[in-house]
Parts: sequence; structure tokens; C-alpha cells
Amino acid sequence: MDVFTVKNSALNLFRQAQKQEGDGKIKTIKEQKQTFYSDDETVQGYDDLRFNKLGGQYVHLSESLAITDFLERVNNRHSLLDIPTGTGRMLVHLLGFKFDRLFAADYSDAMLSLCQTKYRDQNIHFTKQDIYHTSFDDKAFSCLLSSRFLFHSDEQNRVFKEFSRIISPGGFLIADTLRWSPRTWTRVFSTRLGGQLYTNSEQSVVQLASNHDFSILGVKSLLILPSFFYNFMPQPILNFFIWLEHYWPDRWMTKRMWLFQKNN
Ligand SMILES: C[S@@+](CC[C@H](N)C(=O)[O-])C[C@H]1O[C@@H](n2cnc3c(N)ncnc32)[C@H](O)[C@@H]1O
Repeated sequence: MDVFTVKNSALNLFRQAQKQEGDGKIKTIKEQKQTFYSDDETVQGYDDLRFNKLGGQYVHLSESLAITDFLERVNNRHSLLDIPTGTGRMLVHLLGFKFDRLFAADYSDAMLSLCQTKYRDQNIHFTKQDIYHTSFDDKAFSCLLSSRFLFHSDEQNRVFKEFSRIISPGGFLIADTLRWSPRTWTRVFSTRLGGQLYTNSEQSVVQLASNHDFSILGVKSLLILPSFFYNFMPQPILNFFIWLEHYWPDRWMTKRMWLFQKNN
């Protein structure tokens, strides 16, 4: 064994040890994400770290526009679920679509309590849910929004299976995937931002849709660079990237927002 192999093995052991719970059990990716986002410090800093600077506001605006454009196409406004809702940053837009019933769910108590404070005067049903196995009835929702979650999951088929169960036939699903991210090559930002990420090729999304009885109605490509980088851009650089987006090929953008419809 050469010195690099020894060093890498030691590093891997150290990383595994970091992921162990008190009882020595190694945490799954699902558990790691649940723990990370349940931490008060993560929750308090979530929006600040990602969306408060000028570049972050542009990212939030780009995602919001893609989502609301797709919501315009949703012709059944019976019930909408935002899962995971996180800090509820999309709820302000979702309220405007006047669904008969609006639900927001997350696994993190801290995220939920922040949302409940922010939206206490609104008619939104908040519940704690595990996205892989929710307590909602079959076919409960005519539309489901899941923003910034699929790329945190190493079990996307499980997530889609649950979506397929709780979305009614003909109902809609809006979700985003990452085409590429430096967080699949380096861990530099991972610890602060919630750990490992999982990218999707177009083909893998087509496969997920077909496995779980969804058709793809639309896709929008967003952002030249991974969203976190926008936070560090001074205004002239940000303006340059916004201008460049008009010419940048879709296939090189980092994020895709999808509109799916559950088959009848
Ligand atoms: C990156 S945030 C996205 C939040 C929001 N959708 C947004 O776009 O800002 C990921 C969210 O997933 C939630 N989460 C993690 N694991 C979960 C699980 N198993 N079930 C439900 N929510 C989960 C976290 O608490 C966190 O709020």
C-alpha cells in the first residue's frame, strides 16, 4: 500500500466516524440530512447564508419564477403541498395561487416552527412529515412542490414512489434537480451547506418519471453556476452572469426545474 492509499483510507475512516451517532451506528444519508436541518443554527442561518445577499436574491428570484410559471399551468387548484417547505420561502408565492387547501410539511421541527411564526395569520396546514413515508392519504394532492430536495437524496426512487402515491391522477409535481455541482467533487462547502449532493442526468429524470407513472410536461434550465457562488458576486459580475444566461446553452446550466403530471 502506498502512502496515498494509506492517507485516503485514514481520511475515509475519519469521515465515517464523523457520521456515527452516539451509539456507534453509521448514519444514512437520509438521517444525516434530517439531523443537519433539524439543528437550530442551520435553520436560523438558512436564508441568510443562501438568499440574503444580492446574488442569493437573484437565485431565489430565478427559482421562484420557474416555479410560479409552472404553477400557472396547474389547472386543478384543489390542494397544494409544499414538501419540504424549509423556511417556507416559497409559501408567499404559493398563497397567491389560491388553492382550496395549502399544506406545508418538513421533517425539521425548527424549520416548521420558523414557518409557523412567519405565516401565523395564513390558512396553511403545517405538519411534520418524513418525505419518504408521509402520513397523507393516497391521492391527497392535486399539486405538490418539492424544491431543493431531490438532489439531497440518494434514494430518489423512494421519494418518487411516495409522490406518486399522494398525488391524484392528473395532478402535478414541480421539482428541481442538479445537472452538475462541485459538491460531487469536493467537500469544501459541504459541511456548512448540508452534506453530499446527488446530480441527475436528463435520462435519469425521464426514468424516474416513467418508473412512477408521471409524464414530463416541462423543464426549465436555471443558473450558470451553482447557486451558492452567486453570493460572492459583486453587482457588476452578477450583471454579467445574468446577461450571459441569454446565450448560455441549457445543457450547461446547473439546475433544472421540472413539471410532471401524474398519469390518469
Ligand atoms: C435544502 S432545504 C429545502 C427547503 C425548501 N424547499 C427550499 O427550497 O428552500 C431541505 C429541507 O429538507 C428537509 N428534510 C430533510 N430530510 C427530510 C425528510 N426525510 N423529510 C422531510 N423533510 C426533510 C430539511 O429539514 C430542509 O428543510
